[in-house]
Amino acid sequence: MSKAISVVVIGRSLNQQERTRLRSSSQTPLAIVAELPNAPQVLDELNRLKPQAALVLLNGELNHSFQLVERIHQELPDTAVICSSEDNSPDVILQSFRSGAMEFLRQPLVESEIAAVFAKIEQSAVRPEESHLGRVIAVYASKGGCGTTFVTANLAASLARLSRKRSCVIDLNLQAGDQPLYLGLEPNYSIHDVVRNFDKLDDQLLASYLTQRSKYLQLLAAPTEIGKDEDVRVEHVTRAIALLRAQAEYVVIDPPRMLNEITISALDAADDLILLLTLDIPAIRSAKRTLDIFTRLGYDRGRIKVVINRYTKTPEFDLKQIEKVLETPVFGTISNDYRAAISSINVGEPLVLSKNQSPVVQDFSILASKLSGIRPQTEAPTPQRPARSGWTSIFGSKK
Ligand SMILES: Nc1ncnc2c1ncn2[C@@H]1O[C@H](COP(=O)(O)OP(=O)(O)OP(=O)(O)O)[C@@H](O)[C@H]1O
Ligand SMILES: [Mg+2]
Repeated sequence: MSKAISVVVIGRSLNQQERTRLRSSSQTPLAIVAELPNAPQVLDELNRLKPQAALVLLNGELNHSFQLVERIHQELPDTAVICSSEDNSPDVILQSFRSGAMEFLRQPLVESEIAAVFAKIEQSAVRPEESHLGRVIAVYASKGGCGTTFVTANLAASLARLSRKRSCVIDLNLQAGDQPLYLGLEPNYSIHDVVRNFDKLDDQLLASYLTQRSKYLQLLAAPTEIGKDEDVRVEHVTRAIALLRAQAEYVVIDPPRMLNEITISALDAADDLILLLTLDIPAIRSAKRTLDIFTRLGYDRGRIKVVINRYTKTPEFDLKQIEKVLETPVFGTISNDYRAAISSINVGEPLVLSKNQSPVVQDFSILASKLSGIRPQTEAPTPQRPARSGWTSIFGSKK
């Protein structure tokens, strides 16, 4: 699968229609890694992210925008600058190219023009080895209780174990995030600290807000206090994702079920969009509806991976039938083992990190391997952390 072209949008946030057009028009998938205002910190951010393309939406004082284009062109020669404006007079286009833009897109954005521009960038772009871009995986289910939180925690742990690289969970269930329970953590910081210190946020500050399960497994928790969720906005989420993907190999997101702006911004940023369902009529119907919505949002089918949780072979629902109904192949299955799942949650230890022989462990290993392209190896046993008792998860541990 071709790796996405990383794009940073500068000037203002995209509206939903622009986002959809960008996503659906280009042959090569685009990863919109950040949306930044035209502010002084923009160059620092670009130097850190080293995107393949910078889409500068010209607005406000035009000279100010052109100066920025010039500086990007000089300081980041491997980043292709695309200018875009509603004003497509010869003057504006000429000035864009003189400042160092490689391409110009008029607004409203036109699909065929986007396709042509990104095809050129794809051909000419240098993909610098040193610019790290971790993989973002969102696990989404439109119906409650399908196991999103369980799958996110275990998939992240499985990826960390398989790759021996950093895997970070983001809990976007802002009102009631359960990831700390599933991962056995007691966060002192959360995404609310990202909001509080957004002006000075950089990769190091963000790293200090992560809760460590191990060297390779971390969590950016949902707000721990009631009412703090209301302050979280799209730009906080997209920035946190962009900064995390620059430092972790995998960023695995547990988004809320409701398809609001925040959920969509997380799904937009994902390289792999796991659509999770269980084998029952309401979940299958709901998954079908979600696939229709994803089509309307312009999501490329290649990004969407249907995964069946709590899977047992039944004559009523065979996988071929499901694929026919959803018009999408089934990417993976996770076996049904309630006893193993619930006991891992109760002791706060991801099942895949325990000694449990449940088939679920093997299923996660296969899923992680398919997503990462890394073959599972026979592993040396890793030291086990003592699991906490079920009661500490409810009442907290004595400090
Ligand atoms: N593969 C599995 N086998 C058996 N039980 C499972 C499996 N996956 C999840 N469960 C169980 O399903 C229940 C719901 O899981 P989870 O909390 O992850 O769902 P969710 O989709 O995040 O729910 P919500 O919509 O409330 O956020 C848990 O009790 C968990 O133990
Ligand atoms: Mg959940």
